[in-house]
Amino acid sequence: MSAPAGGIDVILSPPEIDLLPERDLSGSVAVVFDVLRATSTMITALSNGAAGIWPVRTIEEALALKQKIPGVLLGGERHGERIDGFDLGNSPLEYTGVQGRDIISTTTNGTIALRAAEGAASVFAASLLNAGAVATHLESHPEESIVMVCAGTFRDPALEDILAAGLLASLLPGRALTDSAELALALYRQEQHDIPAALHRAKNGRALVSKGRETEVEWCARVSILPLVATMTRDGCVRRSA
Ligand code: MLT
Repeated sequence: MSAPAGGIDVILSPPEIDLLPERDLSGSVAVVFDVLRATSTMITALSNGAAGIWPVRTIEEALALKQKIPGVLLGGERHGERIDGFDLGNSPLEYTGVQGRDIISTTTNGTIALRAAEGAASVFAASLLNAGAVATHLESHPEESIVMVCAGTFRDPALEDILAAGLLASLLPGRALTDSAELALALYRQEQHDIPAALHRAKNGRALVSKGRETEVEWCARVSILPLVATMTRDGCVRRSA
């Protein structure tokens, strides 16, 4: 179901993301969420001065792209852990010394979701960390239809991504909502009083905590503390755009 003019639709799960390339997104802007952790890490890295993040689907694609970008760093994860031979994993807390650096990122869900949305008029990488800044940007374009893409965890919907989509929808009042967007908004309204608790209950939140990565979950649960907007440009790189 496509978003009505100026309205909001939400893609809730990976099986729906698989179908996105067949959908005409050219009349919409896409906002991609992978709160735990891919887009939170991208927003944190850009906030720490990274030049650009290149999301790719596979390790092979990452290694091939590395040949074309001098001095680029390799980042990402498989099963939540850094990939052998890569410079960085996918923890937002690792992306400190990245001032001025380009980073190639491959992750299980987040980078797949970003690439699946590349047919949209604009593609934003978003998280809870910069939700306020994204809302302010979208508010200045009320005519644009918005498709929020929730990256998920493996093949399942991810509570934290749908919660973030609901938060963003709540910051864009008066827009028409599809049923999926209504679901996301309802989830946010239910959980808004304790977002860290919701992330701790989420499948990937529990997995990360079990691996001793609780501080990362805490960081990713923070709302609107990073005043930046990140756009994936036609060359496939996510850069700070505001
Ligand atoms: C993903 O893209 O699948 C997640 O960000 C994985 C993770 O970092 O745990």
